[in-house]
Amino acid sequence: MKKIAVVGTGYVGLVTGVCLAEIGHDVTCIDVDQEKIDLLKSGKSPIYEPDIEELISKNVASGNLRFSLETQDAYEVDVIYIAVGTPQKKDGSADLQFVEEVAKRIAHRVKNDVVVVTKSTVPVGTNHFILKMIQEHLQAEVRVDIASNPEFLREGSAIYDSFNGDRIVIGVENDRAALILEEINKPFNIPIFKTDIRSAELIKYAANAFLATKISFINEIASICEKVGANVEDVSMGMGKDQRIGSQFLNAGIGYGGSCFPKDTNALLHIANEAGYQFQILSSVVKINETQKSVLIKKAKERLGTFHGKKIALLGLSFKPNTDDMREAASIDISNQLVEEGANIIAFDPVAKNAAKKILHPTIQYVDCIKEAIQDADAVFILTEWKEIVHFPITNYVKLMKHPIIFDGRNCYHLEEISQHSIDYYSIGRTTSKGIDR
Ligand code: UDX
Repeated sequence: MKKIAVVGTGYVGLVTGVCLAEIGHDVTCIDVDQEKIDLLKSGKSPIYEPDIEELISKNVASGNLRFSLETQDAYEVDVIYIAVGTPQKKDGSADLQFVEEVAKRIAHRVKNDVVVVTKSTVPVGTNHFILKMIQEHLQAEVRVDIASNPEFLREGSAIYDSFNGDRIVIGVENDRAALILEEINKPFNIPIFKTDIRSAELIKYAANAFLATKISFINEIASICEKVGANVEDVSMGMGKDQRIGSQFLNAGIGYGGSCFPKDTNALLHIANEAGYQFQILSSVVKINETQKSVLIKKAKERLGTFHGKKIALLGLSFKPNTDDMREAASIDISNQLVEEGANIIAFDPVAKNAAKKILHPTIQYVDCIKEAIQDADAVFILTEWKEIVHFPITNYVKLMKHPIIFDGRNCYHLEEISQHSIDYYSIGRTTSKGIDR
């Protein structure tokens, strides 16, 4: 059992802290935000994530987990994880100001030998920069080692992923840090891949960029499918059965969003550029993703002519299901454009309503059920494949809309089922059963 501090109780920090406590370590999660710490102390989670509140209560009760503001005591540990945000700067690079601040605080507060582990996604070279900063500001005569330990968690299944990941990547430059990190992670029972620090830093960006590439690739195949009358779902399935390709991340849609892919692809482009290399595939991946956000609008414009005065229902607002995260969600650009062109929008999302209200145009109305959203709507846009939406009976569209027109950005419905009803249905990369290219 190790004494661990996790600095930053955002998404990554909180999940990391809770899971490390669950496997038996003594964990203090630190944050500068009094409101967040108070909320966590009351057993509530500031993020929506399945199982997290149960694990918080359990581990607080067992004494493995506590939450603290920045105090001297909180830093009297064997290992400090840095898990603060690295938001995107205007030029696409990662903003390291929070990481720098933490490095200085560590330097001022540590009283014994520590290993500083970076969980935050940081550009290549940042761990060495952190070590240099700590050593420059260090107040006590102690040994500080660094390690890179990137996370690969998906929002909405972060706890599951923590216990069932494919690998744990550890970047170290000496045996002491390696041994401590191996010991900490052993109870997860996940294969550990040990490498040097720079490679570990790059693995995180490369992995996310590769997944983003798969998505943009299949989205381009979807566009070709529409032109040649093929079905992207079948193409994807046929490709994915080849184990060298793999079936995951080959779902065509309205592009990737969220807090990682858009930020990390831009950051990697920036890293490559700074290193004097033009990462051409990745530039295209990012451009394709931007274009993909507008494919539904294009289809809708062709079909409806104008959006002016039309009642449009948006189903699903978060960047993907099982999260209330609105960061880089396709619903932002799509709803802005619809509002700009005079549409009246009624929106439904089972979880992200409050988060959406803070970001989307104030004229948008929100309702708590799909039926209310689509009642008398001129058209429906499906933007997130929530199970409530996927399982919503198609007959309801026929009953509740004057003339059902659906623009499905997530391919939620089977074409065969749709063809049994009088619905104008447009999806991504699939030719309708009526034989019309959409
Ligand atoms: C991602 C990575 O999966 C995770 O390893 C990393 O640590 C953080 O970034 P996350 O952002 O939670 O996780 O979402 P993910 O499930 O990967 O989906 C990202 C986006 O891609 C979503 O907008 C999703 O709708 C889209 N997507 C995903 C597709 O459009 N098609 C797919 O086949 C898969």
